[in-house]
Amino acid sequence: MSFTIAIDGPAASGKGTIARALARHFGFAHLDTGLLYRAVGVKGGDPVQVAQSLTPEDLARDDLRSAAAGQAASQVAAIPEVRAALVAFQRQFARSGPGAVLDGRDIGTVICPEAEAKIYVVADDEVRARRRAAELGMDEATVLRELRERDARDAARDTAPMRAAADATVLDTSAMTIDEAVAQAIALVQQRIQR
Ligand code: C5P
Repeated sequence: MSFTIAIDGPAASGKGTIARALARHFGFAHLDTGLLYRAVGVKGGDPVQVAQSLTPEDLARDDLRSAAAGQAASQVAAIPEVRAALVAFQRQFARSGPGAVLDGRDIGTVICPEAEAKIYVVADDEVRARRRAAELGMDEATVLRELRERDARDAARDTAPMRAAADATVLDTSAMTIDEAVAQAIALVQQRIQR
């Protein structure tokens, strides 16, 4: 038996922080699936071919967290063949050990619809922009515009659009500290484990 935790939500909602904390707390493996799309986006060339032959080195590049990489990721992520090329790796990761946490946009809906626990993390646009601007050392207004652009593209695409699964619990972190959000997520997962 393996236990899969699916964490989805828009950019800078806090899902990465929550996913890492859950993995640490429960001793599970963690996959930040956004990195796969970022790696495809920054590598250049034919995105479908790049997605079909991604290497561990591609995922270890130190420029994957930049705002430019986020925008590039969101563009290649709308290509159905790119998404298809990355499905098997994510599903294998989800079931390869006793437990795994995957965070992204379509984990609870497409990659792991059978996940034992699903959380959809949201936060107000301005709060997300403030957090991300501080993290990247960028201007808040620019970050806000880019986040909204990326969310709109991610939510509007035909293949695996960003949305909450019907059975996901929505966690709004707008007014929460990191510790509060993590504590709530742990409590939610704990309830599922005990079922
Ligand atoms: O989560 P992160 O901001 O790193 O994701 C970068 C981009 O990758 C997202 O804006 C989205 O377009 C894409 N993505 C996706 N599906 C996922 C994870 C990320 O489409 N599961």
